[in-house]
Amino acid sequence: MGSGWGSLLFLLENKYPSCRIDGFEISPVPYFISKTISTLFFKNIAIKRKNFYKIPLHPYSLVICYLYPGAMISLKEKFEKELEENTYVVSHTFRIPGWQPVSTTYADDLYHTPIYVYKISKS
Ligand SMILES: C[S@@+](CC[C@H](N)C(=O)[O-])C[C@H]1O[C@@H](n2cnc3c(N)ncnc32)[C@H](O)[C@@H]1O
Repeated sequence: MGSGWGSLLFLLENKYPSCRIDGFEISPVPYFISKTISTLFFKNIAIKRKNFYKIPLHPYSLVICYLYPGAMISLKEKFEKELEENTYVVSHTFRIPGWQPVSTTYADDLYHTPIYVYKISKS
């Protein structure tokens, strides 16, 4: 969600070569650069210039976000409506308000940036 220049997508394909990975980015320049790189060098990545609020999320088993606090508030409702049971949501830096992560890890960086992992449970 908001794949930026694509750097995380490229790491993910290298680590999980059998997975299909979709990136959604609304800003034209990062979209264009990342799309070009993915077309040339990565076979399982599809980058789309789309507003992620308008993407149906039910096909996905893992959603990754590095966004901003306001987006986590608006996306929470979309996640609750559209994601299937047991889907994972990973958020870099920003919590999903009111949700309890199944795990929290801290990056080995200057800020010990938190990475929250959530699992959808409909019960
Ligand atoms: C904090 S940056 C993170 C970029 C990238 N994920 C990374 O890890 O470096 C957030 C990105 O989300 C994009 N973005 C924000 N709102 C969006 C929306 N509604 N739909 C698609 N992309 C969006 C921004 O253009 C920006 O590139």
